[in-house]
Amino acid sequence: MGLKRLDKLIALNCNVSRKDARKLIKDSAVSVNGRICLRAEELIDVEADDVSVKGYNFTIKEHVYIMLNKPKGVVSATRDPAKKTVVDIIPDDLKRKSLFPCGRLDRDTTGLLIITDDGAYAHRIMSPSHHVYKTYEAVLSYPLYDEDIAKLEAGITLDDGTECLPAKVEAFTTSDGLPAGRIRIREGKYHQVKRMFAAVGNHVEQLRRIQIGTLHLDPNLPEGESRELTDEETQLVFIDE
Ligand code: URA
Repeated sequence: MGLKRLDKLIALNCNVSRKDARKLIKDSAVSVNGRICLRAEELIDVEADDVSVKGYNFTIKEHVYIMLNKPKGVVSATRDPAKKTVVDIIPDDLKRKSLFPCGRLDRDTTGLLIITDDGAYAHRIMSPSHHVYKTYEAVLSYPLYDEDIAKLEAGITLDDGTECLPAKVEAFTTSDGLPAGRIRIREGKYHQVKRMFAAVGNHVEQLRRIQIGTLHLDPNLPEGESRELTDEETQLVFIDE
């Protein structure tokens, strides 16, 4: 990751402005490797140096990667004048400036969403050229027939003429006995899963994202809650099944 300025790292990790970070440094509140450091421009080796603020040691990181189990009713945006966003519901201890969601889930869609402040990482997940697969479970109005699955797997054309790449699809029944489909796609067109099922005459009643690449939604993470991803987990999104 290389060397980073001390004031920038303090601002990122303590969720304060760069100006406040410089004040903390000036007020002798910051130590590097056990010695008070008064230079805001000091270059820190993120992997090797120990940094503490007001005596508290913390692991300094350039970026943060969060798994959110998105609940219904929140919008996949950074801010919204009227509605609660996925960033609003991240707890304070994980919050940083510049957090944003990697892609969008509809307001009524639940499940796996990654929130980060790393633009390059988000681009790799969202750009179609990187072929990152996303897996959804949809509760449907009607059972999914083999011929519907064949059409979706061949690459279906939506009602407005939009062409979708071939998907992987399987039918199943929920524990409540409702018809459902599991679908794996690597695009992110507007309302894509709902429109794909609509194109075979079905209707999505509920939609949940359960997987990105080989990163699964943590079954122990209740809806509305989030946790930091491990370094290994951040890379699972780029590994295909
Ligand atoms: N496809 C949809 O239709 N909605 C989502 O939220 C995600 C994928």
